[in-house]
Amino acid sequence: MKKLTGNINVCVFISGRGSNLKELIKYSKKNNTNWKVKLVISNKKEAKGLVYAKKNKIFNYAIVKKMPQFEKKALNYLKKNKINLLCLAGFIKILSKEFIQKCKFKIINIHPSLLPKYKGLNTHERAIKAGDKYSGSTVHYVTAKLDSGKKIIQTKVKVLKADNPSSLAKRVLKAEHSIYPKAIDIVCEK
Ligand code: GRF
Repeated sequence: MKKLTGNINVCVFISGRGSNLKELIKYSKKNNTNWKVKLVISNKKEAKGLVYAKKNKIFNYAIVKKMPQFEKKALNYLKKNKINLLCLAGFIKILSKEFIQKCKFKIINIHPSLLPKYKGLNTHERAIKAGDKYSGSTVHYVTAKLDSGKKIIQTKVKVLKADNPSSLAKRVLKAEHSIYPKAIDIVCEK
């Protein structure tokens, strides 16, 4: 895939906590990256990530609408803010093929499993149930097929004997915080 060059305006779609969003903002500031989080959109008003965006003076909107109204409104904000890269971080809605086609820029997502294993929900529970030695997280390009686009970066996390889905989720999340910014660095040439 062709890399992005120049100054990249990033938009992050969230639905809740927004810990990955927070790390992206922190990383880009600290490392003076050629990409900056310019816009944050949530489909939930109460998403904590919106508060963090506000604190950092990043344009932020809650679009509490069903599809396709959500996508229509989001597309307007993306255009208005000249976004060149869309990052999904804990965004629970599934984007339509039409929306993906209309976005003339790349869309990437972070998924808490070692894709192609465990697409969809309850990934940690499924990894533990299967007796997997490792779980982890993957940043990948978004296509119309759920959690199936080309892999950008992946990190492995050991599954411990005593793990339950929430203890494993905690360690995987920590690992996600370090790979997501790196994935954007890979997509955006320095
Ligand atoms: C992450 O584990 C991510 O992989 C998944 O949702 C979680 C989002 O966490 N898609 P946060 O909102 O970034 O804290």
